[in-house]
Amino acid sequence: MERSLTMELVRVTEAAAVASGRWMGFGKKDEADDAATTAMRKVFDTIPMRGTVVIGEGEMDEAPMLYIGERLGLGYLPEVDVAVDPLEGTNIVAKGLWNALSVVAVADRGNLLHAPDMYMDKIAVGPEAVGHVDINAPVEQNLKSVARALGKDVNDLVVVLLDRSRHSKIIEEVRRAGARIKLIPDGDVAAAINTAFPDTGVDMLLGSGGAPEGVLAAVALKCLGGEIQGRLLPEDEAQFQRCLDMGVQDPGQVLYMDDLVKGDDAIFAATGVTDGELLKGVRYKGTLAATHSVVMRAKTGTVRFIDGKHRLEKKPNLVLE
Ligand code: FBP
Repeated sequence: MERSLTMELVRVTEAAAVASGRWMGFGKKDEADDAATTAMRKVFDTIPMRGTVVIGEGEMDEAPMLYIGERLGLGYLPEVDVAVDPLEGTNIVAKGLWNALSVVAVADRGNLLHAPDMYMDKIAVGPEAVGHVDINAPVEQNLKSVARALGKDVNDLVVVLLDRSRHSKIIEEVRRAGARIKLIPDGDVAAAINTAFPDTGVDMLLGSGGAPEGVLAAVALKCLGGEIQGRLLPEDEAQFQRCLDMGVQDPGQVLYMDDLVKGDDAIFAATGVTDGELLKGVRYKGTLAATHSVVMRAKTGTVRFIDGKHRLEKKPNLVLE
């Protein structure tokens, strides 16, 4: 892949964040998502690449833009798989809460798992705890092993889980083991990324969330040297069939980093829409917008934080018309 793609992808997430951040607190998650999707789609048309959406806003018949299979970019090489979540955390924006992101990942064609829209069980940690988690092991065992790897006591650990009734058993097990818990309303991509940045105060992500979000988190953690393990959780016959169709013969199998993102190269970019532990949300003043993004590449391990200042009167959609 071309090195220059990293900066191009930041332009994509910046545009989506600026468009959707305007909806913060308005209680309108669909409008916020539409704004992000439209803005993101526009910028993709300016990028020299030949991309195919493998994780997007839905199937072709249900999503007008950024649907699975849609071709993106100006049509030149490189040929890449594209995973997008124009607004990760639609409810977060609707309510003005924490950690909504605009997210994009690319990898060489064929290297991203085409995860269907179903749940995935996940366990994620940052670089220091790589090799110390096992999604099949009991919660207490994972906590002890991660605590040892981080040189902490179990009761110093902070575990993030989506605040869902389906997690009541895991929450009970984490509490019994003595670790601290952060229950989040939405946004497990940000939670997974945060495990790789000790300053965020997040050590580990547990529980189930969207499978597409699991693949996006895997790209980020591949760039950061962290780890996520996943297991698809098909809920009916149709979802089970989807797993088979995408080449996962045994939907109960553990998906390791290389199953989620093959190869040694991938690029991940995210821009904060609302404030989070890692990224600030969008700030507006008149025709000025300020963004905070992170972009990283697996091949080199380079991680860049980018402050963007945008003049919306010159580039209303962050694209020169
Ligand atoms: P949306 O932006 O699509 O609303 O997703 C937010 C999210 O919280 C993800 O971060 C997470 O993986 C998934 O939803 C969890 O799904 P559910 O809300 O059904 O538990």
